[in-house]
Amino acid sequence: MTRVPVVIIGAGGFGREVHDVIEATNAAAAGQSVSQSYEVVGFLDDGHTDAALIHERGLSVLGPVSYLADLAADVQFVIAIGDGQVRRRLDMWASELGRQSPVVVHPTAVVGNHRVVMGPGTILCAGTIVTTNVRLGRHVHLNLGVTVGHDSVLGDYVTVNPNASVSGNAVLEESVNLGTCASVIQGRRVAARTTVGAGAVVARDLPPDVTAVGMPAVALRRRGNDSKGLVAWARRREEAGGNL
Ligand SMILES: CC(C)(COP(=O)(O)OP(=O)(O)OC[C@H]1O[C@@H](n2cnc3c(N)ncnc32)[C@H](O)[C@@H]1OP(=O)(O)O)[C@@H](O)C(=O)NCCC(=O)NCCS
Repeated sequence: MTRVPVVIIGAGGFGREVHDVIEATNAAAAGQSVSQSYEVVGFLDDGHTDAALIHERGLSVLGPVSYLADLAADVQFVIAIGDGQVRRRLDMWASELGRQSPVVVHPTAVVGNHRVVMGPGTILCAGTIVTTNVRLGRHVHLNLGVTVGHDSVLGDYVTVNPNASVSGNAVLEESVNLGTCASVIQGRRVAARTTVGAGAVVARDLPPDVTAVGMPAVALRRRGNDSKGLVAWARRREEAGGNL
């Protein structure tokens, strides 16, 4: 069995979790329940990292992200960074260098046998369920316990946080971030780059570039605007009959 050399971009908490996913995959490959295994060569990160937590894993931060260009040509990359827009930039840069990304699937994930397509760099953490006729774009993250129902489409760089659920026929456009325990009911569409807060329920379509919270989730502010008073703003919006 070939072991694919891979570097993890992002040495924070999620980077370590992605390393766990890869270790679990390697263990399953040793037991022959999955066919692919990986040799993690290390982490790359531009920021401050907790070196001790990385060293405990027998690995190190090899350098900044730009160091990817200096690694052996066959080293592939996975991006363990929660921000989809950052993943998008890194993916475009690394792909221009000719680097490839594997799809990394925890052995406890359940992936339907029919028409499930996953783009390069996509990561499925433990306990995820993806049913049937589902399309996941490039570098999609499905965190712990996430479910994605039939005929749904998740665009490139979508992030779905722990225990969130996406019902059937839903669409999450590019770089959408679905918060922990949030849900999208069937047939709804969340437009590009929108963040859905933890626990929110997407019962109506959401526009692009907003942060939305609550049940039903309502768009509270545009991307880049100050978040202070988000809930106060929502109250004023409600009092104004939704006309703010
Ligand atoms: C919605 C969200 C993006 C807003 O973040 P923010 O802009 O930093 O907002 P703040 O934390 O400053 O909170 C602003 C207000 O919104 C409220 N609020 C924050 N998140 C909320 C949510 N999910 N639902 C309802 N209200 C929320 C806060 O209580 C606060 O209210 P207040 O002004 O009355 O005190 C964020 O709180 C969230 O839910 N992110 C998802 C996190 C997640 O899933 N992480 C996964 C990691 S694995």
